[in-house]
Amino acid sequence: MIEIKERAKIVDEALKYYLPEKDFGLYKAARHLIKAGGKRLRPVIAMLVCEAIGEDYNKIMPAIVAIEAIHNFTLIHDDIMDRDEMRRNVKTVHKVYGEPVAILAGDTLFAEAFSLIAKCDVNAENVRKAVELMADVCIKICEGQYIDITLENRMASEEEYLEMVKLKTGVLIAASATIPVILFGKYDLFEPLWEYGINAGIGFQIHDDVLDLIGEDMGKDWGSDLVKGKKTLIVIKAFEKGVELETFGRGKASNEEIKKDVEKLKACGAIDYASKKAREYITLAKKNLSKLGESEGRKILESLTDYLVERRK
Ligand code: IPE
Ligand code: IPE
Ligand code: MG
Ligand code: MG
Ligand code: MG
Repeated sequence: MIEIKERAKIVDEALKYYLPEKDFGLYKAARHLIKAGGKRLRPVIAMLVCEAIGEDYNKIMPAIVAIEAIHNFTLIHDDIMDRDEMRRNVKTVHKVYGEPVAILAGDTLFAEAFSLIAKCDVNAENVRKAVELMADVCIKICEGQYIDITLENRMASEEEYLEMVKLKTGVLIAASATIPVILFGKYDLFEPLWEYGINAGIGFQIHDDVLDLIGEDMGKDWGSDLVKGKKTLIVIKAFEKGVELETFGRGKASNEEIKKDVEKLKACGAIDYASKKAREYITLAKKNLSKLGESEGRKILESLTDYLVERRK
């Protein structure tokens, strides 16, 4: 979508400005994934909310960059936890720089994010509220990632899965949609936009789990969730149907073996089931946007929300 691409370019420029490269090894690691690209969907959501509420996103650009910094911090640590080797078509940070430096690179981005939010030139009380919100969101992401990791070793229900993805993915998208209304003091829009982000985030993560199996040129390790024994909605459904998977939780598998399991997951209807669920959450998410009133920004935000589960990468 051209409207998303245009805004993502603005984010790229702001990232260079607010998270500059430094001639010190730690920053090479901290900037590694940011330089490799990424869709920048979370900052673009924040920009579109600004547009939809008639505010200038330039006034809160440090906080918009902070959202992407937090996202990248979680990705660096997530790749260590998930033992993944590729992301955004490059080697993961810990593969290039080693785990100790990757942990520090994530920590650096985490702290830089809060420093940036504090730099926003708006009402100080609103800045304080935004810092508190982002800190709470980071705690929730850790809770979600903890559930994700512990579920590698036991089965999960659909309810447990939904709680996990709400925490690990939903809350950061909810923060992206609500940071603008906090910083500009439009508090009455907080609730609907938070609900919007949670539902959009759940749909987005379900689709991410689908793409782990049927995506092409994702720039990430294919079938990683399967071999790591991750409890995605897809395998929860497949196990309910009594499907047996050869590669599940095995740690490693050849592409041929993964392909066979993917065929089984397709044939039993588990992938279609997950895709349908993802779309349901997107429909739910968009309902919450009605409070924004009519605008070009809202229209583009609605299209971006559909794109969250239509994207091929
Ligand atoms: C990946 O997020 C992590 C998930 C929550 C699924 P994105 O798919 O937004 O990753 P980038 O930023 O575009 O690389
Ligand atoms: C990502 O979930 C959630 C966070 C990074 C917090 P995944 O583990 O599915 O993300 P990818 O597939 O590695 O991007
Ligand atoms: Mg991962
Ligand atoms: Mg993970
Ligand atoms: Mg994934």
